[in-house]
Amino acid sequence: MYSIALFNHKGGVGKTTLAINIAAGLVDLGKRVLLVDADPQCNISSFFLPETKLDDILGESGEEESGKTIWSAVRPVVLGTGDVGDIPVYPVATAGLMLVVGDVLLSTYEEELPAAWTDSFARKPRGYSVMGALHRAVTRLAEKHGADVVIYDVGPNVGPLNRTVLLSCDGFITPVAPDLFSLRALTSVGAAIGRWIKDWRTVQMLAPEDKRTELIRASPTYLGYIVSAFKAYGGSKSKPHEYWESKIAPRVKSRVIDVLRGIESELVLQPPYKIADVKHYQSLSAAAQDKGLPFGWLSGHVNSGYNPEISAAKALFIDIGKEVNSRIEKATSQR
Ligand SMILES: Nc1ncnc2c1ncn2[C@@H]1O[C@H](COP(=O)(O)OP(=O)(O)OP(=O)(O)O)[C@@H](O)[C@H]1O
Ligand SMILES: [Mg+2]
Repeated sequence: MYSIALFNHKGGVGKTTLAINIAAGLVDLGKRVLLVDADPQCNISSFFLPETKLDDILGESGEEESGKTIWSAVRPVVLGTGDVGDIPVYPVATAGLMLVVGDVLLSTYEEELPAAWTDSFARKPRGYSVMGALHRAVTRLAEKHGADVVIYDVGPNVGPLNRTVLLSCDGFITPVAPDLFSLRALTSVGAAIGRWIKDWRTVQMLAPEDKRTELIRASPTYLGYIVSAFKAYGGSKSKPHEYWESKIAPRVKSRVIDVLRGIESELVLQPPYKIADVKHYQSLSAAAQDKGLPFGWLSGHVNSGYNPEISAAKALFIDIGKEVNSRIEKATSQR
């Protein structure tokens, strides 16, 4: 099993959309994929599940022992009543695609994480346990349900929850939109991840020897970036798409690759760093949201006039799935 986070702390750059469609591409290639909604905004859960079903699943996840969300899984560790709990995963759209439902209460876990971080430096077992809770819960679910790939969908920030997700996962991909702020965000993405890894290396070094293997690994390999070319802000004030696009590769190299390589060479792959370009799907995007389906799986669910675009999307995300798979293999072999 290999886990990936789609991460860029700039909002609205296509993280959730890419998580959904890359997962579909991987499923079309015969992989079993577990999507983990680690964004307290729960966009990916709302994408796949109707509100009434979500309301049922969310239930009283704040109070119940037997909740069904990602928060329910880590709740016993946060409350100090036990280890991570078992929760259901929901098959969505087709066999092979599974979802761990998100929860706005995941913010309660996030509130606990700064103290757990400090406790980890102080070699306190509670610190290790809380920091590793999400990873333990997700790994158990992935193993139980035979997932080949786990994809975390995270919110747009460099807060404690995303720090934990990034330090827990095996690799990460940065969706980038060709605009000023998405590009600038790469600098803080690289700086934040670099700092988190270095800090956690200190925790690992300080930890008692018998505890070290229990700690999260904190070695996320940078698998590359995907250009989500769907932004059209700013009218005449904005530079054209091509202007920003030409700046992405050098920015990724200097602000992400070089920073990570400076820590450990295994944290990066050989170039090229670009995985793919994803175009603006215009009205197909609204149809996908309406049906709760990836672009490539909309055939038969929408007007047949969309079929050529749907087939092209299916082929594109299968290609992206192949590329992601090949990068996963390279990252695994150089570990
Ligand atoms: N390739 C695309 N074509 C058309 N619309 C898109 C595309 N990618 C994303 N969108 C739309 O743009 C909006 C933002 O995308 P998305 O939610 O995937 O971004 P995000 O990075 O996950 O946002 P957040 O930071 O809020 O989590 C959504 O309404 C989505 O449907
Ligand atoms: Mg999102």
